[in-house]
Amino acid sequence: METAAIILAAGAGTRMKSKKPKVAHEVLGRPLVRWAVEAAKDAGADPIVTVVGHGREQVIPLVEGDTQVAVQTSQRGTADAVLAAKDALSGFDGAVVVLSGDSPLIRPETIREMCALREKHDAAVVVLTMELTNPFGYGRIVRDGTGEVERIVEQKDATVEEAAITECNSGFYCFDAQALFEALAQVGSDNAQGEFYLTDVLAIARAAGRPVLAYKTDDAEQCLGVNSRGQLAEATRVMQRRINDAHMAAGVTMWDPACAYIGPEVTIEPDVELLPNVILMGATAIGEDSVIGPNTRLTDTRVGRGCTVDETVATQALIDDGATCGPRAYLRPAAHLCEGAKAGTHVEIKKSTVGKGSKVPHLSYIGDTTIGEGVNIGAGSITCNYDGANKHATVIEDGVFVGSDTMLVAPVTIGAGALVGAGSTITKDVTPGALALGRARQSEIKGWVAAHPIEKKK
Ligand code: UD1
Ligand code: CA
Repeated sequence: METAAIILAAGAGTRMKSKKPKVAHEVLGRPLVRWAVEAAKDAGADPIVTVVGHGREQVIPLVEGDTQVAVQTSQRGTADAVLAAKDALSGFDGAVVVLSGDSPLIRPETIREMCALREKHDAAVVVLTMELTNPFGYGRIVRDGTGEVERIVEQKDATVEEAAITECNSGFYCFDAQALFEALAQVGSDNAQGEFYLTDVLAIARAAGRPVLAYKTDDAEQCLGVNSRGQLAEATRVMQRRINDAHMAAGVTMWDPACAYIGPEVTIEPDVELLPNVILMGATAIGEDSVIGPNTRLTDTRVGRGCTVDETVATQALIDDGATCGPRAYLRPAAHLCEGAKAGTHVEIKKSTVGKGSKVPHLSYIGDTTIGEGVNIGAGSITCNYDGANKHATVIEDGVFVGSDTMLVAPVTIGAGALVGAGSTITKDVTPGALALGRARQSEIKGWVAAHPIEKKK
């Protein structure tokens, strides 16, 4: 059966105490609302409608493109939010899954199971429920004498007896589209919060004689709703464990999985070793046999096979097979270490290529530079790429040796096989194979020190 999804993401999330809308807060680099979108997609839902409202200028860019956007202008409750998606689904006559934009841990297979159960019984709705030892804050599932679901009561409306119920509403549902919109038209706001509750649809559908079912999951963790910063950290911990378990099962070694933070789109080949405190985000990919960390953050960075990346921060960088980085290297966008190249300690590289086997071992800045193969850059050497207004390029051809403490003032080209003496400031192109020196000549006055004794002050 065709399945659409509605993702509720219009609420303010006041308990976050944030200027950012709640659903834009991130778990392992992915916004909460994106987790819901990805779960809906993985469960096969199409179309997907995201209901936005509060802070929508920040939420829309996160979801437009692969979901339709519906606006709930004032946040009058979850039923009102679902109604906001009605026009986007006009003419749709299948199942409608409703997901909360603040619940990132839902498993796609659970959504599929809910939908299968609904279809099997032709139910008006299946609600996903869980048992909690501390149910405070959640809606409670009220069952009748025969154990059938009667209604859901919100925390703030619950009597003492109802509040003692431990079976809770996860906020995930699968509805029959027609039954959903028929019932929504009848939802009122006569409750403790003066809101239109989506949860009221259950009692309304039941009164109309349609089956209303609960699907209780043993994996209550996947139902965690993020309403506070504490719950955001909890969701991060759960997702971190899930992701890291999957990588370990696929052959990745982690000294301490609790100290590895890996985003959902990162790929890691077998026999990679992650040392403590690594953060791998975005479209980062790590090749076989590489050792990453400790204390390393890689974002949208591709690491080849057999690399060592020690205490490194890299963004949009390419590190080819057998290259080494750090300790304490900083690779900025478009830094490219070719096969076997090295960016050593306290080295910053931006928009530059370091050719095969070339080394920048210590204390250097390399920017807007093309370095050929087999080049050695001496300690403390830098490319002076910026004149205060514009950036200029440096070219260092194959086999060049740059002595320590050299300033290469761009634009400048050092010809193949040339040697630049230590301490030089190079402002003109160097001919291939030449020795270039750009430094003051050393002079000496013999006996000067003895002739100028320093008298101590009394
Ligand atoms: C809701 C459920 C509760 C359930 C819990 C599970 C209702 C009335 N209550 O409570 O039974 O146990 O989720 O986490 O549905 N939203 C809108 N527009 C609104 C109001 C909310 O889009 O006008 C969105 C929020 O952004 C959020 C989701 O709906 O993503 C749930 O809203 P929230 O206020 O967090 O509901 P809970 O109090 O958690
Ligand atoms: Ca919530």
